[in-house]
Amino acid sequence: MSGVLPSQFIDEVKRRVSLSGLVSEYVTLKKAGRVHKGLCPFHGEKTPSFQVNDEQGFYHCFGCGASGDAISFLREQAGYSFLEAAEKLAERAGMELPQLEKGARRDGPDRTTKARQLELLREVTRLYQRWLTAAPEAMTYLRDARRLAPETLATFQVGFAPDDWDTLARSLAGRQAEQDGIALGLLAPRERGQGNYDKFRNRIMFPVFAQGGEIVGYSGRTLAKDKDTPKYVNSAESDLFKKSQLLFGLQQAKPTIRAKKRAILVEGNVDVLTLHQAGFSEAVAPMGTALTEDQCRLLKRLTDDVIVCTDGDRAGKKAAMKAVPLLLAAGLRGRVVSLPDGEDPDTFLVRHGAAAFQELCDHKAVPLFDHFVAVAREEGDGTAASNARVAELARPLLMAIESPVERRAYVEKLAVALGADRRALAGLVSAPPAPTRHAAPALAPVAGEKAPAPERDVLALLLHHPEYLPHWHAEQGNAWLSHDGIRLVLDLAWELAEERGRVDGGELLTALELRGQAGLQRRVAQLLAGEDPFGEAAERAFLELVSALRFKADREAKTKARAALVGRPLDEQIGALKGWESIR
Ligand code: UTP
Ligand code: MN
Repeated sequence: MSGVLPSQFIDEVKRRVSLSGLVSEYVTLKKAGRVHKGLCPFHGEKTPSFQVNDEQGFYHCFGCGASGDAISFLREQAGYSFLEAAEKLAERAGMELPQLEKGARRDGPDRTTKARQLELLREVTRLYQRWLTAAPEAMTYLRDARRLAPETLATFQVGFAPDDWDTLARSLAGRQAEQDGIALGLLAPRERGQGNYDKFRNRIMFPVFAQGGEIVGYSGRTLAKDKDTPKYVNSAESDLFKKSQLLFGLQQAKPTIRAKKRAILVEGNVDVLTLHQAGFSEAVAPMGTALTEDQCRLLKRLTDDVIVCTDGDRAGKKAAMKAVPLLLAAGLRGRVVSLPDGEDPDTFLVRHGAAAFQELCDHKAVPLFDHFVAVAREEGDGTAASNARVAELARPLLMAIESPVERRAYVEKLAVALGADRRALAGLVSAPPAPTRHAAPALAPVAGEKAPAPERDVLALLLHHPEYLPHWHAEQGNAWLSHDGIRLVLDLAWELAEERGRVDGGELLTALELRGQAGLQRRVAQLLAGEDPFGEAAERAFLELVSALRFKADREAKTKARAALVGRPLDEQIGALKGWESIR
């Protein structure tokens, strides 16, 4: 394939381009002797095993074995074809592209579907931008109601999809782009008659950029005020647009995240724009879904420090609570900023100004773990039993902390917050997970100890009847489990169910594999392959299991809490034990 460009030219391009410069657009690199080191962009890791050698013009990862030169980096990391990668590099090196050899065309066979679709998205973005300037209503909304400056709109390449059925469809009609537009979820075939119609109508269009700076889709906010129109519509999931692996604003925020060595994580797209405009251009947002491991990994490549600033309502607080364990497990640290009730970062900035927001970040933010414990405590009633539950909730967090020193410090914090004995809590945290070179998050294979029968049963039941997962989750059933392996499987199953609306056995097995859980993976595979032992009786069995497990967990929590009280003053013990009589 490289035959279309002279190899001397390719060599010259590679010589002129700084590989570490190129790679550091994707990953933060540190100089270490003759090489640069960083977190590998090809697999998830927390300690850098990825090296870039500028002199020799190649990179290598000692964790996953990925290696190559500037061209293979762009092909694999950003999805460019060979020719596009060469073009992009030549541009960086300030070199003119030579005449292509006979027969080679820019849109020849080397041009992948992906490359074609990316180009279409660039074109469509320009169209949306043009249509915005021709839509006074949309302009007024952005400028007056949302106070967004023209520069901000330009930076984010904001556009507008007009309130017609086929503005875009007509622009793309009769071209290959029409089919691509359908594949990308921008157009859909008309049910009656010929041609296509626009899927995005009367919406402010926010382009979503991927890692390599290419536009892969849109988040469209409606201008309509009626309740029936969904506020946001995102591009359909596709090979290009995988919401769980994208962060809105990351492209624009990247340089600031590096410079300030921190990111601000908010919920809304508009919050991102307002924050950037107010000087906090390190703000990013997941697009309406709960934060994912992949998104944490994207951040971790750029910084270790994340400020979580969700909306000041119940949903926002819940979202922050959910983000903390993921951030910590990804090796990220940071703080949570709580906004006044009913405000989001956007309204906060409008009402109180940038200085007040700065003040919140600098002085009112609470470390991730502390926030988690504080909120979990608020939800309880301060009794020993409720504190034991808080400790139990904090357990997976603690286990996800790789450094034993850090983990110990957290146990200490937890003990202080709960007024409990540190030694009693230390028992919560079992052997430290061994740092892994490969695989995604650092979880040691869960010990092969035999799980209690009801736990095994509940696993089999939920695998065969995932429709009970939401119920199980609402009950916080995982907190009742003593077997870490089963808890992990059910956590993952729930994550998948929440993200995809269903549990795919194959995906679950892959997720276990990625965590180095070969043993668990085998067991789950056996269960999935085997017959459903519950059948019609599933509902009854589920309810019985729930009540048995809850009862057992309650009793154990109380025993544990009692143990934690040993050595405390007598009146405190009596106070804490009040209300327990019913159990024993
Ligand atoms: P918000 O409703 O808080 O959106 O949802 P926002 O960006 O702050 O919008 P304004 O300020 O009300 O105009 C937070 C994010 O959740 C996603 C979007 O990505 C949005 O930015 N979302 C929201 C959806 O995907 N679909 C929806 O229907 C609503
Ligand atoms: Mn909002």
